[in-house]
Amino acid sequence: MNDNLHQLRCFGCGARISGAEAQPDFRCALCGDLFEVEYPGWGQRRGNDRPNPGALKWLWRERRCSSEEIDHSGVWRFRELLPILDSFGNVVTLSEGNTPLYPLPRASRALGIDRLYAKHQGMNPTGSFKDTGMTAAMSVAKERGFEWVACASTGNTSAAMAAYAARAGLRSLVLIPEGKIAWGKLSQAMDYGAVTCQLKADFDGCLRLLTQIVKEAPIYLLNSVNPYRLEGQKTPAFEIAEAFDWNVPDHLIVPGGNLGNSSALGKGFRELHELGLVARMPRISVIQAEGANPLVRSMASNNGSSLEPVEAHTRATAIRIGNPASWRKAARIIQDTGGWCLDVNEAEIAIAKAELGTEGLGCEPASAVTLAGLKKLCAQGKIAASDSVVLVLTGHTLKDADYTIDFHRGTLLKDEEKAGLGAVIEGLQRNAQVVEATPAAVLATLKGSAG
Ligand code: F0G
Repeated sequence: MNDNLHQLRCFGCGARISGAEAQPDFRCALCGDLFEVEYPGWGQRRGNDRPNPGALKWLWRERRCSSEEIDHSGVWRFRELLPILDSFGNVVTLSEGNTPLYPLPRASRALGIDRLYAKHQGMNPTGSFKDTGMTAAMSVAKERGFEWVACASTGNTSAAMAAYAARAGLRSLVLIPEGKIAWGKLSQAMDYGAVTCQLKADFDGCLRLLTQIVKEAPIYLLNSVNPYRLEGQKTPAFEIAEAFDWNVPDHLIVPGGNLGNSSALGKGFRELHELGLVARMPRISVIQAEGANPLVRSMASNNGSSLEPVEAHTRATAIRIGNPASWRKAARIIQDTGGWCLDVNEAEIAIAKAELGTEGLGCEPASAVTLAGLKKLCAQGKIAASDSVVLVLTGHTLKDADYTIDFHRGTLLKDEEKAGLGAVIEGLQRNAQVVEATPAAVLATLKGSAG
């Protein structure tokens, strides 16, 4: 079977190359920008390669009842829209995707929005949205005969890469900033057998170094500069559209770090629109942490035409990135869809995460920026009560349990960060208590916590 129908197009200069011609760092040899996967057959209205919308919608739903391993994947279930392999027999999968879309009734009421949902990408096999991209790019690595794969990471990419490499029988190399990633993520890379190097550098420094390494050794780069990662990461857009019965939500809100995910989801919705599967695109907004906000600054000062890197600081370590690789793609998607780009501070992130907790939903701090950002957009009058809004929660709460415990113990935020918010924060804190082992003492504790 030859399923391969793609080519790579430079996002900067438009140069087109075949997949096999890509440089090891996935930068364009002519202008240095990143590539996007494109499928030339889709442009031909009567071409045989152009997918048939009605048939696809039916087929994708049918596959949920299939007994084939590839159909259990919420990425490869949509494989007609990612024909990136010579053979789908090379797919490396851990049954990723098909993640839940939860209504958020408390936040809906508080914000006066009728239809508010969380698409929880933390419910993937390694606990983050990275799995959907990793299954795609790891399958390409395997098909092309690589023995080693590598990434720089704030933790989740490395966890996903190590797991999928183990499934594929490949060796993996992880570069992470020493002391700057959550323990849960580091433990995953160890367990899945990666060679893990903790470097005295930030994420941006780790990625810079890896870019040099892959030019010197036959190692396949699996950061989101690799365009096949984004092909997998576009599929939650298909799941969301399907869940909305092919009427897309009005607004999608995504956290921004290296800015691959917002770009990928935008590509997913754009392709659905261009192929006639949905009638319009949702507005796509990107939220960054205040201390790691280069895209917010770029959009505010020059409408996303250039980006000045920043030295990044935030406790949401997953998005502690000052020089995001995919900023041009993300800026374009925000502009094309009429979305917004804004930042939220450390207290806003911590409060939003605890509020999601009151809905029974855990997530990483980096994911909670979406709710914090939505609250700001509502306060600015940018969201109508009738809008349907989807927050993309990117990581599982157990990835960074230290953050949650510190919040509830009251040791997370500094006094100046909490200024004016003491009552709100105390109302959300639920510290564990040391109680005498008697019924009376436990019942007295219940009384003490009434309300
Ligand atoms: N949320 C989580 C939980 C993440 O791990 C990341 C990125 C993001 C949001 C931001 O996504 O980079 O596509 O804009 N984590 C990467 C990593 C950088 O190495 O795990 P983005």
